[in-house]
Amino acid sequence: MFQHINYEESAVSTQISAHKLDAEGALAGTVVVANEQTGGRGRLGRSWYSPPDTGIWMSMILRPEVELREAPQITLVTAIAVVRGIEKATDIEVDIKWPNDLLLCGKKIAGILTEMQADPDRVNSVIVGIGINVNQTSFPEDVKGVATSLSAMTGKIYHRAAIIAEILNEFQWLYDTYLTKGFSFLKPLWEARAVTIGKKIIARTPKESIEGIAEGIDEEGVLLLRDNNNKLHRIYSADIDLSK
Ligand code: BTN
Repeated sequence: MFQHINYEESAVSTQISAHKLDAEGALAGTVVVANEQTGGRGRLGRSWYSPPDTGIWMSMILRPEVELREAPQITLVTAIAVVRGIEKATDIEVDIKWPNDLLLCGKKIAGILTEMQADPDRVNSVIVGIGINVNQTSFPEDVKGVATSLSAMTGKIYHRAAIIAEILNEFQWLYDTYLTKGFSFLKPLWEARAVTIGKKIIARTPKESIEGIAEGIDEEGVLLLRDNNNKLHRIYSADIDLSK
């Protein structure tokens, strides 16, 4: 599947590079990897700290035959692939925080950014960005308290290409399974690594903040949150705080 890997020494954002290649008709499965991003972006318009030589900054071009409402499931499938790939390459077990964060000892080690081009109800292409803090030993002031890297946790230096190879290997079969059998088939794998489930959380959406217990995800990957008045909310997209 991943026949074309485009390497850039320095990109503004591999998402931007991938969107451009997508518009030029690049094959599905094309991957962009950069050693550094000067304008790395995160979810909700945030920036993503992407210094050279230390992290994994990559984006994949996908053209899944799925409906628009199903596309967020690709973030969950990617999270499973990243967790499994990191573990295969480094023996480190990372947790998933719905929908797109990966945590190590409660701190953010990686994030996934899924952006799509779609008609009203059909997805044309999906660009999945993966950012992993691998060998950083320091972080800027604003993310210091919440971010970490594999190296900061263990004191070892990791081979980024080996981690990328394992992630792409994992992603390939997980994505095939997802397309042929549906997300519900992979849900147990996601649940096995999810820290959000059963916890008290606050879900912040542009409209409201809801506090309650995350009961799980449904067959479609939607978060089920029971609020303090026992009302069940289906959350499609939100920023999640794990409350203490
Ligand atoms: C998040 O947690 O907010 C998502 C972060 C995604 C970062 C990756 S790094 C590679 C790709 N290029 C970007 O500009 N962003 C994603």
